[in-house]
Amino acid sequence: MSIRAKPEVRIHADLESLSKAVAESLAEIAAASVTSRGWFSLALSGGETPRALFRTLRAGHEKRVPWNRGEVFWVDERYVPHQDPRSNYGIAKSEWIASSPIPRENVHPMQTDLPTPEDAARQYERVLRAHFLHQWPRVDLILLGLGADCHTAALFPQSQALSESTRWVTWAKAPSEPSQRLTLTLPAINHSSDVHFLVSGETKAEALRRVLEEDANVADCPASGVDLSDGRVIWWVDEAAAGKLSHR
Ligand code: 6PG
Repeated sequence: MSIRAKPEVRIHADLESLSKAVAESLAEIAAASVTSRGWFSLALSGGETPRALFRTLRAGHEKRVPWNRGEVFWVDERYVPHQDPRSNYGIAKSEWIASSPIPRENVHPMQTDLPTPEDAARQYERVLRAHFLHQWPRVDLILLGLGADCHTAALFPQSQALSESTRWVTWAKAPSEPSQRLTLTLPAINHSSDVHFLVSGETKAEALRRVLEEDANVADCPASGVDLSDGRVIWWVDEAAAGKLSHR
């Protein structure tokens, strides 16, 4: 069993202040990547929590980010049309991206209009391989959420997707609708440079305690499988989500 690096936990009063701090951190990472390599890559999760961050970014809190040098990808997607209100790309586009200075050609949603999720997973892996030329994608910053069942991305407990060790993108069945999902695999996530988990609300307190304070196994608690081979994991949580942590 690999010795997991001790993750950093940063506790904020509420989701609003947490989102502003994450926007600051995103700006620092983006600026450093552009300085050293001329561009930066960001991968977004979906769900409700990131909406506050998207609104913070849209409000222009991060004018100093060289957005024209940014490439935006997705961590996971529900297999629904992009116009569907449950689409992760649709949420990010309407809350932020459509009014951002990011060049349209730099925004890379997961396709959800191919015959099968498997076709779409293979297609997205081709998109990623066109941008990340090494054996694994080294995304500068991946934003992840945490489900109350300890899932992250579309990696759910007992999922066959958890055992994927060679593909960058796969498809998965979710226990909630929309049940068909696309997701980065754990090894693809674990080769990134920075992972920021955004966790808000009392409903996530038990899952957060399990990930951070138990030696939970990945099959039962997929978020505990996020353990970067050469990178940094920061947990950005609000007081409500941190309510069951013994080490504060
Ligand atoms: C999704 C997400 C998923 C999300 C968690 C938390 O497509 O739903 O990518 O992994 O991050 O389910 O979702 P909330 O932020 O809505 O609680």
